[in-house]
Amino acid sequence: MDETMARHVAEAASALRRILLAESGDLAGLPCPPGAARTAAIDSRAAPSNRPQPAADTRRAPDPLRETRPPVARQPSANPPQHQIAIPQPSPEFPGGLEELASRVRSCTLCSLHESRTNTVFGEGCITTPQVMFVGEGPGADEDLTGRPFVGASGQLLDRMIVAMGLRREDCYIANVVKCRPPHDATPLPNQAGACMPFLRAQISMIKPQFLVALGASAANAITGSQDGVARLRGRIHRYGDIPMVVTYHPAALLRNADYKRPTWTDLQMVMARLRSE
Ligand code: URA
Repeated sequence: MDETMARHVAEAASALRRILLAESGDLAGLPCPPGAARTAAIDSRAAPSNRPQPAADTRRAPDPLRETRPPVARQPSANPPQHQIAIPQPSPEFPGGLEELASRVRSCTLCSLHESRTNTVFGEGCITTPQVMFVGEGPGADEDLTGRPFVGASGQLLDRMIVAMGLRREDCYIANVVKCRPPHDATPLPNQAGACMPFLRAQISMIKPQFLVALGASAANAITGSQDGVARLRGRIHRYGDIPMVVTYHPAALLRNADYKRPTWTDLQMVMARLRSE
């Protein structure tokens, strides 16, 4: 193994270790970059770095989402793109900013989902212009119990997707359309998604991600307003206001059907290419 390869392997091992240790307290101690506002309720374990990483070498990583394959390590770019880091600003509906938004979510009774929830799942991660904000459908059992998004089986795959993109979970923000677990993990009903959307919209507008990734049809439909499925919406860059966005398959779909991995990886590469070009 030559020196470069050895460095790549060490970087990959370290990235994986960080993700494997990413239980509630373990990341809380990582340093926040200057200006990264953080609160326990909203951003309990973020350590945003906003440090862009070059993309994977896809010729050598045909299936970077495969469970058994270590993530492809990347070298930091010599000229990383510079981004304006925006500190979340309150929106008119939520003058208290993200804190108020999270508190309104915690006490929300706008739809029937509140009746069966253990915890609301507001979202977590970097709140100062994260490189990517992932939006899923809604909490499952693990998320309902912990109050954290994407910590179950889908979350573990999402973590691998993030590492394969050359990012760290804490470089991203992760949220859902609905903040309470639907009973039997059903797809949220239109009235449930509709009741929760003002929260997600405010979250996006305060956090100002550089890129949005809608995971699955529920997120795609709620954000774009389109009724089309993922197959029709994926593969191109949409815009949510001035934020570029891609739609791709939900990690749970990839766990059910490995055929979705390749198109998903193609979509994520689009995100990486755009982030690199900025
Ligand atoms: N699926 C989602 O859509 N969101 C989560 O947080 C977990 C699983």
